[in-house]
Amino acid sequence: MDSFELNKILGAVLGTLLITLSLNIVAGAMFSPHKPEKPGYDIVVTEPPAGGGTTAPQEEPIEQLLAKATPDKGASIAKKCLACHDFAKGGPNKVGPNLYGIVNRDRATHEGFSYTAAMKGKGGKWTIQDLNTYLISPRAFVPGTSMAFAGISKGSDRADLIAYLNTLADNPAPLPTAPVPAQGAAPKPQDTQAAAPKDEPKNAPPAQNAQPAKPAPTPAPAPAPKH
Ligand code: HEC
Repeated sequence: MDSFELNKILGAVLGTLLITLSLNIVAGAMFSPHKPEKPGYDIVVTEPPAGGGTTAPQEEPIEQLLAKATPDKGASIAKKCLACHDFAKGGPNKVGPNLYGIVNRDRATHEGFSYTAAMKGKGGKWTIQDLNTYLISPRAFVPGTSMAFAGISKGSDRADLIAYLNTLADNPAPLPTAPVPAQGAAPKPQDTQAAAPKDEPKNAPPAQNAQPAKPAPTPAPAPAPKH
């Protein structure tokens, strides 16, 4: 092999390498990947708000709850109050004032009890609404009250309790109950009755008649009597 031959081979190899390299550069320039500005998918994690259980969802108004309330259940819920309150007529003040006749009683007026300035400053009467709001959270309704009670979050429990408190009076006032909403009420019985019978007779009995009667299995002709 002479040197000319060797040069040709080396030249071919170098040339191939050169072309490969330049192709690579050109291709790289043409097909350089475009990185999207935003990632393809947004990964959204929706977490329920912290402590979601404590915020009551939409609750029925107290009037509606009172319509279903039972004072008997309220009496057992009222055991929570007994540590601090007496419910009997003429009963004593304890940690808290006696609560006989509390519904519609003027606030902070029970004899012999020294209320906080916060409670005295609140003024007004213990209406059903106010009792309800106070019992959700005493400190939210009367900031600075000395009633160390967390509150009752369940609406039906408060309604039962208020229904019970309402019985603690010489002449209990009737509990307010919300008027039943007119819309969305159950359909009147007449409407359904009028619509139903018209269609039925048409559909039911003729359907059977319309079906081609099955040909009765004809008895095989009796063999002709032999003579
Ligand atoms: C840990 C003791 C405690 C418990 C339990 C408690 N209370 Fe009280 N309550 C008080 C105190 C003390 C006051 C006086 C608050 C003030 O002066 O700020 C009060 C005041 C009240 C008042 C206002 C009375 C008025 O004359 O103005 C009402 C109504 C009331 N409580 C209802 C209840 C009910 C209903 C319960 C049970 C669900 C209850 N409380 C549980 C201590 C308590």
